[in-house]
Amino acid sequence: MSTMKEGLFLAPMAGVTNSIFRRICREKGADILTTEFVSADGIMHRNARTRSYVEFTPGERPMGVQLFGGDPGRLAEAAKQVIDWVRPDFIDINFGCPVNKVVCRHGGSSLLRDCPQLERVAIAVVKACDPIPVTAKIRTGWDERSINATETARILEAAGIRRLAVHGRTRAQGYSGCADWDVIAAVASSVSIPVIGNGDIGDGATALLRRQSGVQGLMIGRAAMTNPWIFSEIKAALAGEAFTPPSLKERWGLVRRHCVEEITGRSDELIAMQGMRSRLMAYTRGMPGARPLRSHLSLVSSLMQLDDLIASHLMEFPEGKLEQFK
Ligand SMILES: Cc1cc2nc3c(=O)[nH]c(=O)nc-3n(C[C@H](O)[C@H](O)[C@H](O)COP(=O)(O)O)c2cc1C
Repeated sequence: MSTMKEGLFLAPMAGVTNSIFRRICREKGADILTTEFVSADGIMHRNARTRSYVEFTPGERPMGVQLFGGDPGRLAEAAKQVIDWVRPDFIDINFGCPVNKVVCRHGGSSLLRDCPQLERVAIAVVKACDPIPVTAKIRTGWDERSINATETARILEAAGIRRLAVHGRTRAQGYSGCADWDVIAAVASSVSIPVIGNGDIGDGATALLRRQSGVQGLMIGRAAMTNPWIFSEIKAALAGEAFTPPSLKERWGLVRRHCVEEITGRSDELIAMQGMRSRLMAYTRGMPGARPLRSHLSLVSSLMQLDDLIASHLMEFPEGKLEQFK
C-alpha cells in the first residue's frame, strides 16, 4: 500500500495550529486539519478569542473543530452551536488533554478513567451533531496501571464515533517517554472504525515503520512545528519516492512568510513577533549554528530584526555546508 486510507493528520496543538499554520501544513501535504481544543463553555460565549479558535478558510477543508468538556449536555449543545456557526466537516472530542485545568473540570483525559461518563459524552455529542461525523482523540490510558485504550475505543465505536486518533502515551506521561505503538496497534486491531496513530513521528522512515501497526492514518504534531515539510517527506516515503529536503533558504522563506501572515492577522507587529518567538525556537531546532541564533530570536521584536538575523545566518551557512541538516 503506497498511501494510507485516511491520510496524514496535523495534530491539534493549542497555541500552535491556528488557521495560518494549518494552511502552511496543508500546503506541505497535511490531508486533515483540526482546530486546537476549544472549551464547550467558550463556545457558548462566542467571544472574539473563541471565534479565532474555530474559524477557518474554505481551503482548509476537510476541517474539524475539537471540543473539550466533561458535561454531556453542554458539550452536545456546544457542538451544535459550532456546526451552526462555522459548518465544520467534523467535530472531534478531546479525551486526551493532560492539563490540570482541563482535567479538574472532568474534561480531556480525565474521562479515560470514567468510561461511563466518556460514553455519555460521546453518545450525546454524536446525537447532537448528526449527520456531521464525530471523531475522538484519546491517550492510551490515565496511567501505566490503567492502560485501557482498547476498551475506550470499543465504547467510542459503539457510541457512534467515526474515527479515532490515539496518542500512544498515558495522561501521567504527559509528553515524556516514548509513545507506545503496541497499544496503538492493539486498538487498531480491536475496532472497525479507522484508527489514526499519533506519537513521535519525526521523519519518513518512522512513518513507514508506524504504518505497519495497522493504523489507517498518521497524525503529526511537534515535528510539524519544526519542519512543516514533514508531511511531504512522509508522503514520499509511503509512496516509495525520493524526497529532497528544503534548503535553508527555503526554510527561512517559510518562517518569514509565517511571521508576515501573523503580523497581517494581528495588525500589531510587536505582539505578532513576540507571539512568534516560541515558534521561531521550534523552526530553528536542528539548524546549524542554532544556539547563538536562538538566543537572538528569543528577543526578536520586528520583521526587520528577523530579516537581519536571517541574512547573517544564510551568510554564515551557505547552502553547500548543510549536509547534516535535514
Ligand atoms: C503545544 C501542544 C499543544 C497541544 N494541544 C493539543 C490540543 O489542543 N488538543 C489535543 O488533542 N492534543 C493537543 N496536543 C497533543 C498533540 O495533538 C499530540 O497528541 C502530541 O503532541 C503527540 O504527537 P507528536 O509526538 O507528533 O507531537 C498538544 C501538544 C502540544 C505539544
